[in-house]
Amino acid sequence: MGNHIAWKDYYSVGDSTIDAQHRQIIAMINELYDAMSRNIDFTVVKPLLGRLRRYTMEHFDYEETVRAAHSYPELVQHKILHDKMRQRTIDYYDNANLLTGRDMLVFLKEWWSNHIQNQDQKYAPFLVTAVSC
Ligand SMILES: [Fe+2]
Repeated sequence: MGNHIAWKDYYSVGDSTIDAQHRQIIAMINELYDAMSRNIDFTVVKPLLGRLRRYTMEHFDYEETVRAAHSYPELVQHKILHDKMRQRTIDYYDNANLLTGRDMLVFLKEWWSNHIQNQDQKYAPFLVTAVSC
């Protein structure tokens, strides 16, 4: 599937829970791609977007909690990026029938692959530092 996102080893942030969540998000976007490329109507696509929305919120919340626990210095900047994507993901769900699916897929694919390999990679070194208690 040429338009799928393929997991790359360098996507790993060294935390198995976060890596598993990133893989799950990628799988959801690929599933959305498959559904839309088969011209399935929005009664099928809408629940997939609903699931992606729910999972994105859970994942961002989890990532933000973990980073705070490891005193990541760019917490605020990273949260701003997440908040924009939270809103965008809600908009995609709410207005799914008004959007051209192709643009949405391109955006989701590019945002997530860029975010994982550029932004999330920046906190990876902080996660290996043990939290003292
Ligand atoms: Fe992130």
